[in-house]
Amino acid sequence: MSFPATRLRRLRRTEALRGLVRETSLSPSHLIQPVFVVSGEGVREPVESMPGIDRLSISELVTEATEIASSGIGAILLFGIPSGKDESGSGAYDDEGVVQMAVRALKEAHPELTVITDVCLCGYTSHGHCGFVRDGEVDNDLTIELLAKTAVSHAEAGADAVAPSDMMDGRVGAIRYQFDEEGHSRVPIVAYSAKYASAFYGPFRDAAESTPEFGDRRGYQLDPANAAEAVRESKLDLDEGADMLMVKPATPYLDIVRRVKDETGAPLAAYHVSGEYSMLKAAAANGWIDERAAVLETLTSIRRAGADAIVTYYAKEAAGWLR
Ligand code: PBG
Repeated sequence: MSFPATRLRRLRRTEALRGLVRETSLSPSHLIQPVFVVSGEGVREPVESMPGIDRLSISELVTEATEIASSGIGAILLFGIPSGKDESGSGAYDDEGVVQMAVRALKEAHPELTVITDVCLCGYTSHGHCGFVRDGEVDNDLTIELLAKTAVSHAEAGADAVAPSDMMDGRVGAIRYQFDEEGHSRVPIVAYSAKYASAFYGPFRDAAESTPEFGDRRGYQLDPANAAEAVRESKLDLDEGADMLMVKPATPYLDIVRRVKDETGAPLAAYHVSGEYSMLKAAAANGWIDERAAVLETLTSIRRAGADAIVTYYAKEAAGWLR
C-alpha cells in the first residue's frame, strides 16, 4: 500500500469529500461562553485587554443572554464581580450576592439557557487569593468549607452546574457531600481538575479584579512542567464525585487534554483562557492573521485533542461563524 496506488490527496479534492472523512466536529453546542456580571445598574464596561468582552450588570446580562440562548451555544459560565471584598470572600456565599441574583434573573428570563457558575473566592477576597489566608498561606480545609457553602448558594439560586476553579484539595468531595446533604444531588460538578499556574490568565484578572495582592497562585495551581500530576488530579476529582473534568488553559496544554481523556474516559472540557483570546484578538486587529480561520482552527484542535466542550470567549462569535 504505497504510492502510486495510495494517494491520500484523492479525498481532499472537494469540500464534500473532505466532509465525508472529517474526523473532528465543531458546533455551537460544544461551546461555553464565559460572562462577567457586576453589581450596579445599566453597566456595560468593556474589558480593555479583551476586545469584545464587557462586564455587565444583571439586566444587561439578561439582554445579552437572549442572543446567546438563541445561538445554539451549550452554556454560559458565570463570573461575579462584587461591589465589596473582604478577608474571607463572604460575597461569594451571600444568597443576595451578585452571582446568586444574576442566576435567578437569567433562569427566569431564559429557563432553556444552561447556567454554570464559577465557584472560587479570588474575586471576593480583599487579598485576591482563591481562599482563606492564614499565616500568609491559603488554608485548604477552611477554604473548602467556604467553597461548598458558595456552591450550595449557587445551586439554591438555580445554577444548572457549578465549576470549582480554586484547586484546593478535597473541594469536589466537600461540594458533593454538601449538595447531597442539602437536596442538590442532581446538580453536576464541572471540576477545574488540571488548572495550571499560567501567565495566560492576565487579562481575566483585569476583568475580575482578582490579581493576588501578594505572592502568586503557584502554591495551589499546577506546575506547567507537570503532566502525570494532572492525571492524578483528574482521577481524584472523579473519585470525589466530579461529573465533568476540565483542563486549563487549552492550547499550551493539548497534550494534557489528550492524556486526561485517554486515561479517564470522562467527560472533559478545556478552557481557552483570556490570554489565548487576547493574543488572537491582538494579532487579528493588526491584520496579521485571518481571525475567523485562526479561531476555528484553534477550537477544532482543542476538540481533536479530546475535549468534549470548550470554554471560550469566542463562543458567541464562533457560533455565528459556524451557523
Ligand atoms: C479564578 C479563575 C481564573 C480564571 C478562571 N477562574 C484565574 C486565576 O486563577 O486567576 C481564568 C480565566 C481566564 O483567564 O480566562 N479562580
